[in-house]
Amino acid sequence: MTIIDLGAPGSSGILDASSKREISFFSNMYVLGLTVTAGIGGLLFGYDTGVISGALLYIRDDFKAVNDSSVIQETIVSMALVGAIIGAAGGGWINDVYGRKKATLVADVVFIIGSLVMCAAPDPYILILGRLFVGLGVGVASVTAPVYIAEAAPSEIRGGLVATNVLMITGGQFLSYLVNLAFTEVPGTWRWMLGVAAVPAVVQFCLMVFLPESPRWLYMKDKKSEARAVLEKIYDSDRLEEEIDQLAAAAMQDLESRKRSVSYMDVFKSKEMRLAFFAGAGLQAFQQFTGINTVMYYSPTIVQMAGFASNQLALLLSLIVAAMNAAGTVVGIVLIDRCGRRRLALFSLSGVLVSLVILSLAFILQSSCNSNNQILSLGFCNSGIGWFAVVGLALYIACFAPGMGPVPWTVNSEIYPEAYRGICGGMSATVNWISNLIVAQTFLSIVELVGTGTTFLIIAGIAVLALLFVYIFVPETKGLTFEQVERMWKERAWGSEASSSGSSQKLLEYVA
Ligand code: BGC
Repeated sequence: MTIIDLGAPGSSGILDASSKREISFFSNMYVLGLTVTAGIGGLLFGYDTGVISGALLYIRDDFKAVNDSSVIQETIVSMALVGAIIGAAGGGWINDVYGRKKATLVADVVFIIGSLVMCAAPDPYILILGRLFVGLGVGVASVTAPVYIAEAAPSEIRGGLVATNVLMITGGQFLSYLVNLAFTEVPGTWRWMLGVAAVPAVVQFCLMVFLPESPRWLYMKDKKSEARAVLEKIYDSDRLEEEIDQLAAAAMQDLESRKRSVSYMDVFKSKEMRLAFFAGAGLQAFQQFTGINTVMYYSPTIVQMAGFASNQLALLLSLIVAAMNAAGTVVGIVLIDRCGRRRLALFSLSGVLVSLVILSLAFILQSSCNSNNQILSLGFCNSGIGWFAVVGLALYIACFAPGMGPVPWTVNSEIYPEAYRGICGGMSATVNWISNLIVAQTFLSIVELVGTGTTFLIIAGIAVLALLFVYIFVPETKGLTFEQVERMWKERAWGSEASSSGSSQKLLEYVA
C-alpha cells in the first residue's frame, strides 16, 4: 500500500509502507517488555474472572450462609463484574486526566487491597466487598493496558502487541484453572486462591514505577521533551522524526480539545466520535453476546455429554479448553497485523456461527434422544452426539480465540482521538462488562426457559447480526497511524472534501 501524504511537516510526500523501516514483533525488546508489564493487567483480568468458580466450591464449605443462599453465591461472583463496570467507566477518565501510568498504579493498589480483603475475609459480606475492590481494579486495568500498549507501539505491530494483552487474559484464565486444581488439597483453599492474585499486582506496581508515561499522552499534555525521550527508546533516528512530525500535526488538529477539559458528553456531540464509539462499543457488546463466557462456562457439561463422566476429568478437559483459548490468541497475535482486524473478525464470526449451530444441534438431538428411544436404538445417542458437541466446542474456541477475542480490545485502543482515547475506550469497556454481566445473569434462565440447544441457536442468530455489524460499521485500521485513523473517521462523518479542508490538515490518499 502506498500512502501519499501531502503537506505533513517534514514529510517527503510519499510514504511507502514497504520502504518504511518496519519494526517486527520481537525486534524491540523495550516495547515488548513494556507490553508484557502492562499486560499483567490482562493477567489479573483473566485470573480474577476464572478463579471464582473453583473458589466458590470451598467458600460454600466454610460459610453456611453462602451454602444456604444462591443469592449470596451469585453476588460473590457478580460483584467483581459490577466493580469492573464502574472501574472501566471511571478508569477511562483517570487515563485521560492523569495518564496511563498513574491509572495502572491506581488499578494495582485497588486490586491488591481487594485481594487481601478477600483473603482475610471473616464473613461473606467482607468477601463481597473485596470482590468489589478487585473488580474495580480489573475494570481500570481493562481500559488502561490496551491504550498504554497501543500508544507505545509502532503502528505495524500495534495489533499484535495489544493482542498480547488478550493473551495475558486467556493465560490468566488458564492459570486460574490450574490453581483451582492445585489448591484443592491445601488448607484454607479459597483464601490462597483469591489472595495469591495480589502477587502479580505487586510485581506490576514495582515494574511500572520504572516505566515511562505513554509518549502520546505526554505530548498531548505539552510535555514534548519527555515524550521525545520515550520515543527515542522505541524508534531509530529517521523514524523518530517521522513519528514526532505526525504527533505535532495531530496535536495541532486537537488543539481545541486539548485546551478544554474533556467530558463524557463530548463523545456524543462529535459526529466522528459517535461513529467510532458505535463501532467500538458494538464490537465489545458482540464479543460478549456471541457467548464466549457461556461456552467456557458450559465446557465441562459439553465434555461430560461426550461421555467423560468424572468431575476431575471434566475439570481437566476444561483446562484444555482454556489452553486452546490461549493458544488461539497466539494465532491472533500473528494474524492481526497481517490479515487486518476486520477480516479477522469476519472469519472468526463465521466460524463461531458454524460452531454454535453444531453445538445447538448436538444439544437438541441430545434432548430428543432423552425423550425418544427410537433414535437411541439407532445407536447415535450418547457418545455420537457427545463427540459432535465436543467438535462444536473445539471449533468455537479455535475460531473465537484468534479473532473476536483480541479484535474488540485492539480496535478500541486505536480508533479514538488522542484526547478522548481513555474516556471512549473506558465507555466501550464498560459496555463489554455490562454485556458480560447480562449474559452471565440471564444465560441459565434462558436455558431453563427454552433449552440449551435453542439458547445456542439464539446466540448463533446474534453471531449473524455481529457479522453484519462488523461488515457495515467496522473499518480496517491495520497498519494505520493514529492520525490516519482520525482522518478516516472525519471522512466517514463528513466526506473526503470536508475532512481535507483546513490549513493544518494533511491529505492522505491510499493507492492500492
Ligand atoms: C473477553 C473475556 C473473555 C476472554 C476469553 C476476552 O477478550 O473480554 O470476557 O473471558 O476473552 O477468551
